[in-house]
Amino acid sequence: MCTYTYVNVQKMTDKIAEEIVSGDEPFLGTLDIALLLVLIAGATWYFMRNRKKEEAPIRSYSIQPTTVSTISTAENSFIKKLKASGRSLVVFYGSQTGTAEEFAGRLAKEGLRYRMKGMVADPEECDMEELLQMKDINNSLAVFCLATYGEGDPTDNAMEFYEWITNGDVDLSGLNYAVFGLGNKTYEHYNKVAIYVDKRLEELGAARVFELGLGDDDAK
Ligand SMILES: Cc1cc2nc3c(=O)[nH]c(=O)nc-3n(C[C@H](O)[C@H](O)[C@H](O)COP(=O)(O)O)c2cc1C
Repeated sequence: MCTYTYVNVQKMTDKIAEEIVSGDEPFLGTLDIALLLVLIAGATWYFMRNRKKEEAPIRSYSIQPTTVSTISTAENSFIKKLKASGRSLVVFYGSQTGTAEEFAGRLAKEGLRYRMKGMVADPEECDMEELLQMKDINNSLAVFCLATYGEGDPTDNAMEFYEWITNGDVDLSGLNYAVFGLGNKTYEHYNKVAIYVDKRLEELGAARVFELGLGDDDAK
């Protein structure tokens, strides 16, 4: 490229010299003009391309939450929500890192296969004494998906509910329930919370409609 330009410049200089001497040939030949035009066009294209790159707008993105068809409790009366939406299944979750919560969502949707419209609820955001009113809803069912932590302890969001059923002496007759535990067999207190809650709800008069299920996240 450099040699090429250098040769052309030399040619041009020679021609200028010749023209000065003879005075009859044009200052620039056709080939020189064509070359000049190509050079100018190339430089313009290169310049414009760089400018466009600089001016390219910064794209902005926004992350939208995914919509879940099952409703969750924004206000704390899950009974009101069940009644208002014609649902009969509520799935509570005790979750620290989201597994039980996700599972609860799936169970609530599965309810449709048994003609039960379901909703998911966080016990921490609910008035759990409303469990006493579940019997007012036809064919209702409360499912508890509960993870175990530490020394067989409930998750933070299930702690209050756990203490309420442990220390209280409520009559839960008329409440249909099922418990599913989420744990890991490598821990000494495998699924201790679910095992306890399942037993305790029965002691308080509630009716177990499905056998206790125990999930082991260490199982392959
Ligand atoms: C620090 C820690 C402690 C745990 N302790 C127990 C336990 O004592 N018993 C048990 O069965 N599982 C135990 N697990 C397993 C969890 O209960 C299991 O991974 C569960 O699926 C977590 O549910 P989550 O994601 O809804 O919180 C423990 C897990 C961790 C990370």
